[in-house]
Amino acid sequence: MADKVQLTINGLSVTADKGMTILEAALRKGIYIPHLCHHRDLDPVGACRLCLVEIAGKWTKIAISCKTEVTEGMVVRTETPEINEMRQVAVELLIADHDTDCLKCARNTQCQLQRVADHVGVDTERLARLREREEKQPIDDSNPFFNFDPNRCVLCGICVRTCDEILNIHAIDFAFRGLKTKIAGFGDKSRLEADCESCGECIVRCPVGALTEKDYKKPTHYVKSVCSFCGCGCGMRLGVRHDQIVSVKGDISSPANRGRLCVKGRYGFRFVNSDERLTSPLIKKDGKFVEADWDEALDLVADNFSKNKGEKFAAIASAKATTEDNYVLQKFTRAVMGTNNIDHCARL
Ligand code: SF4
Ligand code: SF4
Ligand code: SF4
Ligand code: FES
Repeated sequence: MADKVQLTINGLSVTADKGMTILEAALRKGIYIPHLCHHRDLDPVGACRLCLVEIAGKWTKIAISCKTEVTEGMVVRTETPEINEMRQVAVELLIADHDTDCLKCARNTQCQLQRVADHVGVDTERLARLREREEKQPIDDSNPFFNFDPNRCVLCGICVRTCDEILNIHAIDFAFRGLKTKIAGFGDKSRLEADCESCGECIVRCPVGALTEKDYKKPTHYVKSVCSFCGCGCGMRLGVRHDQIVSVKGDISSPANRGRLCVKGRYGFRFVNSDERLTSPLIKKDGKFVEADWDEALDLVADNFSKNKGEKFAAIASAKATTEDNYVLQKFTRAVMGTNNIDHCARL
């Protein structure tokens, strides 16, 4: 058990992996420590100061649990009157500067700030005194897929670190200081003007309702699938409501993408429900497309293939098709049509 550490949290014996933080060890054991800036995919920064714990020793000390590693024999308490008071003030300062219209928020009931406030409790009189800013900051709705509402942002930095550490894009960062601090593109650019690639990875990690998808509809259930936009084959979970796809999540269990998606996989699903989607073959007759049945369409294609063998023929394979389908297409082009005129859309 050299790679394991034994410690005590709130009187419970906890076995943790060496190198784990107290917060990770507690959460894995089912002990909730309030937190906002921690995310399991990202390096800890210790920004929100909510995950305070007391560590016993010669000099009992208070530390932030998301940046303190577990050690053998450590004795930790996650709730003491002193810690609760410090947390309460920190939460009230956040809420004082936060839009309180939770009923209109897409993250209502799934918001980490609500969870923290429920756990810690707030002093409503002190909160009323703290409320200074009345004017609302403008919502950045420039991106075609999602909105950023600075009035709901808790400045945890998770979106900034996601874009930096996971995507290596660094499209956004903290801008301005004090009460004016907000998340923005370099030079206070909007999301559309910034280098943002609209992958939505920051949205799925935002702990509150500051980053939300446009036209969000809550799915009633999820169906596992694979993205068909390119050859990476990312695993996805399609959110379905009334037989329509309303959202897409990355599938964490998929080895191809481990839960991540690009803009096409995450937001390119609306064509599935489109009224303009072709549902039967069309044949051009006298300059106009006319609906046909599959037998008629396939006979026409086969007839034209047999009349145009050799150098008159060329094929373009597709990144949206499977590897097996692309293999069959090149075999057909070479062996049946008698030409090497085959290319792939990924090279164009
Ligand atoms: S959508 Fe993607 S690229 Fe744009 S800011 Fe978020 S993480 Fe960065
Ligand atoms: S937008 Fe969300 S993730 Fe980004 S800093 Fe604000 S609250 Fe945190
Ligand atoms: S999510 Fe993006 S990278 Fe993944 S398969 Fe779809 S298009 Fe390719
Ligand atoms: S979660 Fe530890 S400081 Fe924010």
